[in-house]
Amino acid sequence: MKFFIDTANIDEIKDAASIGILDGVTTNPSLAAKETAPYKEILTEICKIVPGPVSAEVIATDYDGMMKEAEELVKIADNIVIKIPTILEGLKAIKSLSTNGVMTNATLVFSPSQALLVAKAGATFVSPFIGRLDDISQHGMELIDNICTIYNNYTYQTEVLVASVRHPMHVIESAMIGADVVTMPYNVIKQLIKHPLTDIGLEKFIADYKKAQK
Ligand code: G3P
Repeated sequence: MKFFIDTANIDEIKDAASIGILDGVTTNPSLAAKETAPYKEILTEICKIVPGPVSAEVIATDYDGMMKEAEELVKIADNIVIKIPTILEGLKAIKSLSTNGVMTNATLVFSPSQALLVAKAGATFVSPFIGRLDDISQHGMELIDNICTIYNNYTYQTEVLVASVRHPMHVIESAMIGADVVTMPYNVIKQLIKHPLTDIGLEKFIADYKKAQK
């Protein structure tokens, strides 16, 4: 499974990249708004740090506007992925961009039917937002299961990129289902390695080692 970090914060990206397990980055306008630098500058910096796919989101909601923004964003670096909202105009943009060899990420996906359509349009990634479904008392993880089942029934190349991840269990359950990618905040990456018994055990080993130095 690939690990992406879901942030526009350069320090977090550098820290996560230094661990050695980071495969890519996803950003969105809300994440960019938390930072001080302009969005394109942030994306340029991110692409220098991470060689894997870096998602950059368009703001336009019409086909022509999306294509124009995509044209500018792809100039930033070869690893830019154009993040497109999953609406009818977005579907057209995904089809055109993927036909022209541009990587795309269909965002704001909340249903299997949306996922089926973006796969048919040739999206590189589909981003189901599981945390936001959980927030409204629907099962986010069921959506991942359904999308993986549908994609596995055919030969779609679209990778399932689990988004809106809130905690380690979202990552573990995605891995058990077989999702291709999980994008997560930096705090979730750090939570994945933590276990209280590891900390207790380590403390005891260190204390015993000191006792053994007679
Ligand atoms: O990748 C999409 C993600 O950023 C959305 O997460 O926490 O705003 O629902 P959240």
